[in-house]
This record gives sequence, C-alpha cells and structure tokens, in this order.
Amino acid sequence: MNFEFFNPTQLIFGAGALSQLGEVVARHGKRALIVTGGGSIKRSGVFDRAVASLRAAGVVVAECSGVEPNPRIASVKRGAKIARDEGCDLVIALGGGSTMDAAKVMAAAALYDGDPWDMIGHGQDNWVIPTRALPIITVPTLAATGSEMNCGAVISDDDSKVKSFVQANCLFPKVALVDPELTLSVPKDQTAYGVCDIITHVTEGYFNGVDGTPIQDRFAEGVIINAIEWGRKAVADGSDLEARAQVQWASIVALNGWVQAGVNMVPPVHMIEHALSAHHDITHGAGLAIINPAWMRFAAKARPERFAQFAQRIFGLTPEGKDDLALGMEGIDAYVEFLRSIGCPTRLSEVGIGDGLFDQYAKDAALVLHDENGNLLGRPPMTKEDIVGVLRSAL
Ligand code: NZQ
Ligand code: ZN
Repeated sequence: MNFEFFNPTQLIFGAGALSQLGEVVARHGKRALIVTGGGSIKRSGVFDRAVASLRAAGVVVAECSGVEPNPRIASVKRGAKIARDEGCDLVIALGGGSTMDAAKVMAAAALYDGDPWDMIGHGQDNWVIPTRALPIITVPTLAATGSEMNCGAVISDDDSKVKSFVQANCLFPKVALVDPELTLSVPKDQTAYGVCDIITHVTEGYFNGVDGTPIQDRFAEGVIINAIEWGRKAVADGSDLEARAQVQWASIVALNGWVQAGVNMVPPVHMIEHALSAHHDITHGAGLAIINPAWMRFAAKARPERFAQFAQRIFGLTPEGKDDLALGMEGIDAYVEFLRSIGCPTRLSEVGIGDGLFDQYAKDAALVLHDENGNLLGRPPMTKEDIVGVLRSAL
C-alpha cells in the first residue's frame, strides 16, 4: 500500500450538538450564508433553533433556501450571488447531502469569477478545481452521503442533463457539527435510501480497490454490518435516537476517507447512478439500491473470491461445497433481501425507468472516470455494452 490520508475537518458529534452552532461558527466568521433545502428543517423547528444560536453568538445571517434534491448548478449560482451581495464570510449547510453539496460549491463559487459549472467535471478540457472557498460548516439533517466530512460535492445541470462531481481540499468543511437528533424527522423511505448510500460508499472501495488491504477490509465490513444492524432499527422506529446516532456515525466514516485509505477506490456504481438521477431526478440512495446489486452480479464473475468473502463475513454464509462465485451470488441475494426488507426498490421498473435511454446513461457514466479506452473505471473496467448489460439486468 502507498497512500496519503488527509482530512482536516473538525467533527463535533452528539445529540444536542446543535446548541453549540453559534459558538462554533463565531470562531470562523461573522456573517454567515445559511443554506437550506425545501423546508423540512423549518417544519421541524431546527432552522429557528439554529438561527437563534447564531444570533446569540453575534453572527449575522443571510439565507439561501430551496436547494432541491439532486442540487442544480442554478441553485449554486443563486447562493453564491447572495453570499457576495451580503458580504458573507462563511457558509453554513443545514440540510441533507444536496444542501451540503450545493453549499460547498457556493462557498467556492463566491470567490470565483467564472461560471461555477467550470468546477464540476463534465468532460471539459479545462476542469477548474477550486483552490479557494469561504469557510464551510456542515450541519447534516440526514444520514447518507458523508458530505459533512469530505471534500466532495455532486451537482447537476438541467440543460445538459449531466450530474457530476468536484473534489478539492478547499471544500473540506472547517467543522462538521453532527447532531443525530436532527435526523429524527427523516421519513422511513429517505432513512432507508440513506442506509443504502452508506453501504454503497463502502462497497465501492471494497470491490473496486486494490488487493492487499486486510485492515481496510475489516473496517469496511464493520461499517456495513453496523449500517445493516442499526439501519434496520432506524427504519423500523424513526424515533430511536441510538439507532439514528449509529447510522449517522456510519455515514461519516463510510466516506470521510478513513475506510478508503490505501484502497484506491473508484466508484463505478455511483457513476451509473448519477447518470440515472441526472435524467430522472430519482433519489440517489434508491438508484444505488437498484444498480449496486446488478453491478455486483456482473463484477462477481471477475473477482469471485472477493464476493465470497463478502457473503461469508457480512451475512455469515458458509461455502458448503459451493464455489466462490455461487457463494458470492448468494451474498448478493442476501444483500438484495436486506434492501427490500427496509423498503428500497431493487428494479428500475419500480422507479419508472425503462430501457429507452440506456445508451445515453452508459455514455454519461463514463464521462469523467474512464481509462484510455473510454471504459468506466472499476474492477473490472466497463465498456458501454457492459454498462447497458448491467442496466438491462436491473429492469
Ligand atoms: O429539502 P428538504 O425539505 O430538507 O427535504 C429533504 C429531501 O426531500 C429531506 N430531508 C432532509 N433532512 C430531513 C429531511 N426530511 C425530514 N427531516 C429531515 N431532517 O430528504 C430529502 C432528500 O434530501 P437530500 O439532501 O437530497 O438527500 P441526501 O442526503 O441523500 O443527498 C443526496 C445528494 O448527495 C449526493 C447525491 O448524488 C445527491 O445529489 N451525494 C453526495 C456525496 C458527497 N458529497 O460526498 C456522495 C454521495 O455518494 C452522493 O452522490
Ligand atoms: Zn452515494
């Protein structure tokens, strides 16, 4: 293994942490742009509590509300303009992954004179990776993406129907203030999709990483096993604060770089899902619940021993004379059963997607992360036909 690990985000975790918001923010700025989603935090009273805490600490607040799920570049531009017009010196993201991602790119766009879409990789010759951003404080209200403690953001463009990402060190939040109480109001379906997203962040590295990472394997398996155990509980009883807390901690470690250290992860399943949600605006975690098992069945043929390990260590299945591929496939079946038990869709038809645009999704999926032959990066790399085959198997 040969790697660097870097994550400068301060994490403050625990029920009730929201009350520290003003004090924490005041260490980083005086005029905050607070970025919010479609209104859930207003209905739950979280927004008022956050603003009261900020005002008590002497922080002036401007707001950019209405960031949509699968956030659009138009929202990013709108927020960056508010930040500039109001002279904001930091950005607070109070919401789910969509709000956090939009807020991160707003923080960079506020200091960038060009078109913010330049910063999102979409096959352009000159991908502008931002080097400066206003300080970012994340306050997640949904456990899923891990955006609260990583340097990535995923943004969509309505015109080109491209959904893609940026990763830059300046996008690491200064502080992730994580209060599991804020997730108590997340509905059952979004809770389940979040659990699926968490698990998929880990499986991407587990199945697409380099060989010889036994410690990371065990970290990954620990995160998956706990996401399954506590995810079930959080879905069954949304008011179970302990379950909410464990799921939220899982969401952080699943994508803050820790599980991936030394693994050289590439995320083919995410690239395929992003192509789907760009065209159909489906929830990211629901799309992953459909694509990941279909992809796993494809990839298991190239690396059966890895999938046999998954079956044994995650679901306790035993070989009993089966070869690795047969055992691996049983593990994938068990995973599908889990996804269905928490209410996730596992077929494209369940979210109203047919085969009309399969070629387009295959092209879009490999737009950024491809090898010299144009194949989508992964183990194994995927041709356009491979991607279409996986999609077809998920119909
Ligand atoms: O907008 P509001 O009204 O807040 O409602 C949201 C939204 O409808 C609701 N919600 C959030 N917190 C809630 C709540 N409802 C009740 N109570 C609460 N406390 O949940 C819905 C979904 O929210 P959203 O932010 O879209 O979900 P999620 O956190 O799953 O974020 C998904 C986005 O993140 C990207 C995805 O592609 C997608 O665009 N990702 C970002 C990553 C990253 N930055 O590292 C990695 C991920 O793999 C992912 O790609
Ligand atoms: Zn994800």
